[in-house]
Amino acid sequence: MAKHDLDPNYLDPNYEPVVNHSENTPFHQVLAARMQRRTVMKGTVGAALASVMGLGLAGCGGDSDSSSTTNTSDTPDVDVANTELGFKAVPVSTANEIKVPEGYTSQAFLPWGTPITGSYPAYKLDGTNTGADQEQQMGMHHDGVHFFPIDLKAGGNSSTEGLLVMNHEYINQGALHANGATYNSNGNRPTDEVRKEIAAHGVSVVHIKQDSNGTWDIVFGSPFNRRITGGTEMEIRGPARGYHKLFTKFSPNGNRTRGTLNNCAMGPTPWGTYLAAEENWHGYFKTSAAERPREQVRHGVDGTSRYDWELAENQADAYVRFDVTPGEGSATDDYRNEANTFGYMVEIDPFTPESAPQKRTALGRFGHEGVIFAPAKEGQPVVCYSGDDSRFEYIYKFVSSKPYYAATAGGYLLDEGTLYVARFNEDGTGEWLPLDLNDADFAAKVAQAVTDGAVGGIPFDGFENQADVLVNTRLAADIAGATTMDRPEWGAVDPNSGEVYFTLTNNSNRGKEGYDGVNAANPIVENRTGHIIRWAEAGNDHTATSFEWDIFVFAGEQGTETVVDDEVIVSLTDDNIFNSPDGLWFDYNGRLWIQTDGSDAAPYQNNMMLAANPETREIKRFFVGPVGCEVTGVTGTPDMKTMFVNIQHPDGNWPDSSDPRPRDATVIVTRDDGGVVGA
Ligand code: FEO
Ligand code: CA
Ligand code: CA
Repeated sequence: MAKHDLDPNYLDPNYEPVVNHSENTPFHQVLAARMQRRTVMKGTVGAALASVMGLGLAGCGGDSDSSSTTNTSDTPDVDVANTELGFKAVPVSTANEIKVPEGYTSQAFLPWGTPITGSYPAYKLDGTNTGADQEQQMGMHHDGVHFFPIDLKAGGNSSTEGLLVMNHEYINQGALHANGATYNSNGNRPTDEVRKEIAAHGVSVVHIKQDSNGTWDIVFGSPFNRRITGGTEMEIRGPARGYHKLFTKFSPNGNRTRGTLNNCAMGPTPWGTYLAAEENWHGYFKTSAAERPREQVRHGVDGTSRYDWELAENQADAYVRFDVTPGEGSATDDYRNEANTFGYMVEIDPFTPESAPQKRTALGRFGHEGVIFAPAKEGQPVVCYSGDDSRFEYIYKFVSSKPYYAATAGGYLLDEGTLYVARFNEDGTGEWLPLDLNDADFAAKVAQAVTDGAVGGIPFDGFENQADVLVNTRLAADIAGATTMDRPEWGAVDPNSGEVYFTLTNNSNRGKEGYDGVNAANPIVENRTGHIIRWAEAGNDHTATSFEWDIFVFAGEQGTETVVDDEVIVSLTDDNIFNSPDGLWFDYNGRLWIQTDGSDAAPYQNNMMLAANPETREIKRFFVGPVGCEVTGVTGTPDMKTMFVNIQHPDGNWPDSSDPRPRDATVIVTRDDGGVVGA
């Protein structure tokens, strides 16, 4: 998400404010004693905690009922699972280039500005491409990415041709324009700069194909090549469709909006579509109102916007909508509700280029980092998980009301169901708390909050209906009593065991004066390097309402230990020190890939990607990015012989040393002997 976000001082304070002031700290006192022990064990912080907790979930996956698991876009057929790491670890690096293991090759691909559709306007080195050009070129700040085999809809699993779909999280204005962001003498921004910035956001769909030499290239003229931007018209779906808090001048019925923004991670659905997450969308809006509604307060929408799009010289609705200050008329006369149409998972069907993206409100409105689906099972509900990446926010799970049948599955399955939020208990168990007004326990807690008159300092007079619950997902989760986490980023589901993994990237405010204290699942005071948590659903049933969790690994410097039942399971070394885990992906064989977005100071140096064996917890550094970047987004072909890794916000002249502008890009990684990556 953010550059160098290990150190909060690098962050724009408006970018990712701590906006959860609820008091969900049920384990605070119990854990205080544990933290005393922890603090005397420098370098082995995780060890004391995991050990005291006595958790040992290694191998707890139980019966993975793979025979009844439907083959889906995310789980192509593979040979017998093998999760061993067969490469030699790559050392840390400060070089302005990609490092991969001996016997591997890397190649930059699809950098920002690459023409992919329309008239294929060429990238210009001097930054003078127009907004219209940018609408036909790769966006900036590549992030979550997925490879869809071109023959997926016909039941195939091509590893030589497919649709590469990726998010463009945000922008570098300095690189995007000839002279950075500018303002006219009246304080407004040149309209085409704003148009270009909006166009550099969103999602790219690129039809790619490997030639007989093994070289990947764009299929020029393919009807699948497509840009979706911060201005593309989209449908609102699910319970919040038509709800009055989404009424705008553009959509007086509250069923449409324009654009998707700050798309971080993603998730491929079991029916071959792509869900893009809207993460730090709040920063794109401003309000001058003295009184802000809870739908803005709980997310940090405030008096400034990140890029001043509302100040475009051309005061068209497409731009002024980013100012959500209420006017004198009604909600359908202005854009007071525009920010309520952001914060969702957005479904894109890459195989239907004319289709409008669909915002799936049943999955909740928050700072979605991404989404990960459990393997779909015929006749069973669809289940997916999503983290809310801000300090002290939560992890959620959606369970569909309707059952999945491969022959008829589609996005409608995401429009009805139950949204749960996770509570991680001190003893290694956990519960999924339904955010459903029809649930008696939740309804009672809501009634109590109404009696209290406030939730975490935000005035509260109840929810109008379930749509209101979903538009205010964070508040609902506060009321339910969820466990505040250390910034949940990507999730991943182990295709062999069914266990669910989530990165908790860091939280330098954890346990500080005035902030939430530690809890069992987030046991580190001022957690600067992060950890990875995992859980097994009860009975290995992803619809279950209880689970058992443990901490897979604590990130940190050399000597950082993860201990289970008094046994040191992981002790980090030169081969695998890392900090601020963010991207996370299980490949089709079951190797776990961990990407970082943290401090690039010593001892970690440039951000990286590591591979882990989930059974043994062996971890090895596989890849190091260029200077200043984060490594975020990874996917592969079904045969895992080509891997695609995204590099976001490089600092220097990368990937082209003769280009004065840094360019976000995808990196293709292959093995020189043509073998499976990681094996
Ligand atoms: Fe966009 Fe949470 O990183
Ligand atoms: Ca991220
Ligand atoms: Ca991040």
